[in-house]
Amino acid sequence: SDESFIAYAAAAPNLALIKYWGKRDSRLVLPLNNSISVTLDDQLMRTVTMATASPEFAEDFVELNGKPVEVTDRMRAVLQSLRQRCQRGQDLASWKVRVATRNSFPTAAGLASSSSGLCAFAVAVARLADTLRWLSTVARLGSGSACRSLFAGFAEWSAGQRPDGVDSTASQLASAGHWDLRVLVCVVGAGAKSAPSTQAMARTVATSSLLPARLSCLPDRLAAVREAVAGRDFASLAEMSMRDSNCLHAVCADTYPPVHYLTDASRAIIDFVHRLNEASGRVVLGYTADAGPNVCLLAQPADVHLAAGCLQRAFDIGQVVGDLGEAADNSKVPSDWAGDGSGGEGATARHRIESLLICRLGRGALDIPQAEAAACFDSD
Ligand code: PMV
Repeated sequence: SDESFIAYAAAAPNLALIKYWGKRDSRLVLPLNNSISVTLDDQLMRTVTMATASPEFAEDFVELNGKPVEVTDRMRAVLQSLRQRCQRGQDLASWKVRVATRNSFPTAAGLASSSSGLCAFAVAVARLADTLRWLSTVARLGSGSACRSLFAGFAEWSAGQRPDGVDSTASQLASAGHWDLRVLVCVVGAGAKSAPSTQAMARTVATSSLLPARLSCLPDRLAAVREAVAGRDFASLAEMSMRDSNCLHAVCADTYPPVHYLTDASRAIIDFVHRLNEASGRVVLGYTADAGPNVCLLAQPADVHLAAGCLQRAFDIGQVVGDLGEAADNSKVPSDWAGDGSGGEGATARHRIESLLICRLGRGALDIPQAEAAACFDSD
């Protein structure tokens, strides 16, 4: 019909270095702590979304990669909040919307797609309603982590203190160009089905006696990460990320009943990183793992080639995607180093890494022009 509006958005997933875990208000999606993330490159991984509003639609409707999906309460909260703010007049605010979403990365790979998915959802519907104010709030209602994908490079989401959540917003800490970090996503495949983060974090808040200890050490850790980003201090950023990831999974193990996300393969990658750093006499890699078994490695560009080579010696890697970079001087790692603790004998079973995705940091959803998102939507 002539009487319809259409809008597009694209967003890349973000990876938290200091994790969000636990809500102070679950209806408004207000977190207990600040979190800091890096936004990954939308060239390698992105969600693109087309939102249409028409007086002819009978219901709100959402599809992912061509298949209808449930319109969740979270999605309804995003739609409701944007209907209230709609700048295109009351008619459009009362129309139903259709949201079609495409992920350029395999959803089957088990990569956390909620940050890019709900961010693109929020931005597309906000463009439809012609209201780009309060986008942090809107994206946050879809999925907490989504508000960080609005921004390029390094982002921090403040917990805020107000009960209405107006001070719980995300903002950019540093641009992607400020520091050329690389993220090596180790997709280890699906383990046992992971507990959804919403339920798991609610159970942590209700039962874990370690959570208060985590929260009390976070202000110092957040300050150290801000400082590491400002000063491009890789060793410090990597160490803080590793410690925070370990802390998150410890708190998950302390949840009752416990929440387990890491598998033997995840733990093998974590141990590999510590052995590589030890053998190299410096911090070559950091790691961090979210609410699932995949482990993301942090590296400086000059070390990507070396890290990938060492990973290939220690793991059975399915495919490598992305820019491996140039071979650099790796003389500090013994040539017979197998990284599996076997001293190069290859005595232990090699764990499988389905894919190794090598990403740069990239643009925020707000930086990706609507016309570009539309073109991606047609090609993805
Ligand atoms: O935004 P959610 O509800 O998918 O929760 C994300 C939780 C973690 O990914 C584990 C941590 C984070 O800060 O992204």
